[in-house]
Amino acid sequence: MDLTTTYMGLELKHPVVASASPLSQTLEGIRRLEDDGASAVVMFSLFEEQIRAENEAFDRLIGTGTDSFAESLDYFPAVDEEHRGTEHYLNLLRRAVEAVDIPVIASLNGVTNEGWIDYAQQMEQAGAHGVELNIYYVVTDLEQTGRAVEQRYLDILKTVKAAVSIPIALKLSPFFSSMGHMAKRLDEAGADALVLFNRFFQPDFDLEQLEVAPTIQFSTPDEIRLPLLWIAVLYGRIDASLGATRGVDTADEVIKYLLAGADCVMTASALMEHGPQYLTTLVDGLTDWMEARAYESVTQMKGVMSRKNVADPTLFERTNYLKVLKWVGTSPPIS
Ligand SMILES: Cc1cc2nc3c(=O)[nH]c(=O)nc-3n(C[C@H](O)[C@H](O)[C@H](O)COP(=O)(O)O)c2cc1C
Repeated sequence: MDLTTTYMGLELKHPVVASASPLSQTLEGIRRLEDDGASAVVMFSLFEEQIRAENEAFDRLIGTGTDSFAESLDYFPAVDEEHRGTEHYLNLLRRAVEAVDIPVIASLNGVTNEGWIDYAQQMEQAGAHGVELNIYYVVTDLEQTGRAVEQRYLDILKTVKAAVSIPIALKLSPFFSSMGHMAKRLDEAGADALVLFNRFFQPDFDLEQLEVAPTIQFSTPDEIRLPLLWIAVLYGRIDASLGATRGVDTADEVIKYLLAGADCVMTASALMEHGPQYLTTLVDGLTDWMEARAYESVTQMKGVMSRKNVADPTLFERTNYLKVLKWVGTSPPIS
């Protein structure tokens, strides 16, 4: 059975990829993900705020030092260099690429052009097989138009693409008025992969303390529906690879994403809950399912249930919604 797949130009031994998470924060963690069967690892993100804070701290150090000591310019960069989070990230990336045989994809998380080019280049130099850009942009400014937001995504992509030659994936939010058109524009602008979809941090309210409470929850399997819909709609209509992320709980979600048309399926919550060894369960589950249905390769099953390939494409559209509503309305009441 041939489980291989091509994702953003990278040959993967099977489609199950370890998504960005704290599991890749150490070399041992990355090694373990490989040993337990990941076909590629997306490293946790280097955050724009992290880069900016370090640069500001660095500038302050240099500023203060220069006033006080003539030798400070020689002194501070060395000290700072050693403790820089970005340096740590790049070192870890370098060591990981040397230590494992699977592709290591670095991740940059931010909202502006600043700093991305330098760091994308440094990630390339450190040996990253690709970079995933996570444009985590919650637009709370009421003056920002949708057009401006879309342009920002395109500008970041084009700037980074022009600066590096390794493949670039964009981890996207679903919050565009015309998701399909946006995907098409990003594809035309040179995205090597689109990763659908980012899970936004959505704070809750603590009613006891009357505070905005930060929460990070693991995903649930029903969260696959939105990415599943858009992967099925986009399959075969853009050149960029499609990476699925969100809601993988069992092999069923992996299979569904592949049938929709994903080139790879990423998982974070399930690995954090069950441990990286759960990768084997996911891949074995996929293999068993393929065997039972006489699929000989992942390529053969990819996109079989996409909008392009199903007999009735309206199943993905509004008409189907009306049919479902009608069915609910005529079904017997639940006792
Ligand atoms: C604890 C935790 C940390 C994460 N850190 C990152 C990160 O650094 N960068 C990123 O792009 N995504 C990050 N993610 C998002 C995951 O990569 C993934 O896209 C998301 O959780 C949906 O997949 P899942 O349902 O398999 O968890 C994180 C998720 C979790 C649960």
